[in-house]
Amino acid sequence: MGARNGKMNLAAYYNPTGHHVASWRHPRAVKDAHINIKHYVEIAQTAERAKFDLLFLADGNAVRKAHIDAISRSTQFVAHFEPLTLLSALAMVTEHIGLVGTASSSWNAPYHIARKFASLDHISGGRAAWNVVTSGNDAESQNFGVDHAYAHADRYDRAHEVVDIVKGLWDSFDDDAFVRDTESGLFFEPDAMHELNHKSERYSVKGPLNVPRPIQGYPVVIQAGASDAGKELAGATAEAIFSPHLNFESAKAYYDDVKARMVKYGRDPAHCKILPGLSIHVRPTEAEAKEDFDYIQSLIHPIVGREILASMLGVDLSDFDLDKPLPDPLPVHVGGSRGHYDELTALGRKTGMTIRELGAHSAGARGKNVFVGSPEQVADYMEEWFQGEACDGFTIMPPYAPGAFDDFCELVMPILKDRGLFRTEYTGSTLRENMGLPRPESRYAKKSGSAAAE
Ligand SMILES: Cc1cc2nc3c(=O)[nH]c(=O)nc-3n(C[C@H](O)[C@H](O)[C@H](O)COP(=O)(O)O)c2cc1C
Repeated sequence: MGARNGKMNLAAYYNPTGHHVASWRHPRAVKDAHINIKHYVEIAQTAERAKFDLLFLADGNAVRKAHIDAISRSTQFVAHFEPLTLLSALAMVTEHIGLVGTASSSWNAPYHIARKFASLDHISGGRAAWNVVTSGNDAESQNFGVDHAYAHADRYDRAHEVVDIVKGLWDSFDDDAFVRDTESGLFFEPDAMHELNHKSERYSVKGPLNVPRPIQGYPVVIQAGASDAGKELAGATAEAIFSPHLNFESAKAYYDDVKARMVKYGRDPAHCKILPGLSIHVRPTEAEAKEDFDYIQSLIHPIVGREILASMLGVDLSDFDLDKPLPDPLPVHVGGSRGHYDELTALGRKTGMTIRELGAHSAGARGKNVFVGSPEQVADYMEEWFQGEACDGFTIMPPYAPGAFDDFCELVMPILKDRGLFRTEYTGSTLRENMGLPRPESRYAKKSGSAAAE
């Protein structure tokens, strides 16, 4: 896509102690990161010094549902800061980096989402972004009075509607509504305030929103769905995507597919940045990187490995010997992803790996893309995907933090910058400007015939 200017977009993605399931046990991680504001300040400032586009906090509205022996040995999605509160604090100690909060379209009222992200956009001087997730697990639904997560299609129908309502609410006041004219006594222009009056079977939202129009018009809208429905939502609305691909070919197919869907919706394909998730183990040499990887793999508790394997397979493995291969036949498949089930059972049968070994193999990055190598190897890998138009950049998921994130910033970033693949300075004042995304016109300005935007 020609409008990329040869530069990648990069997001820094944080689970509190790092992406790897055993990160909290690593000596170069901060054990209590999940509730340590100083840790977050440090990693946010490191990301900003390295000129990352985005700082992204993953989130869910529940303690992860798994065997208590497993969750009590893991920090992921257990007990941590609420992201919007945390991002508001980080807005005060950073100046340029984009601040991405995750908010579920299933378990938030649209008014709440609009209000919080509009506030964050003002607090941060135009750096807010919303990661729209649809929340497919029962642990979350059960905290909101619903026994089971909404069905997949229903979740995505809701997401389309919620994004539309939220954008409508962000348009409640025109950009120049607040004249604050002390002479005449007029605080805002009455004609510049708009009621949304949205009504459907699911949502009734009158508006207006009680926050002025965000500095960016709309905070940047981000998505991470990989299914057909996920790609459709992304094609219609996403301005950045955290995608899950494991190899160049599937990333490239996804990239072309989503960009084509954007065209179908009348959008410019340059206005959505596709950023595959990548967990990087980098040390000064390849041998040291491999050693680093093997070390953190050795920290995976066997019960944690077994339970993550079980949830990826959608079967109960708790009665089986850790040091024997997967039982044949396996217990009945009751959930999880069919793709993971087929892939992991095939691997287990082919290699004869024990449950302990297969658990460690699957649990580390939980099915995400992992690259282990020297700084040059990492840069080559990233360059190949970028130049081959399989992505517009990456979502960097440090396996442990701050250690592995510092390594990436110190060892790989200078190479990307030397090759001209990444910015050396922020050039815009808002996140949209830095990412090369247009500022959306208000729907009311569009109606009255002003310049049309995307
Ligand atoms: C890099 C990445 C980050 C994600 N972060 C979150 C998150 O913070 N919270 C969440 O509920 N889901 C998260 N997801 C999951 C997606 O929102 C989505 O549910 C998943 O990719 C399956 O999408 P699909 O149902 O369209 O296949 C993430 C996915 C990826 C690839």
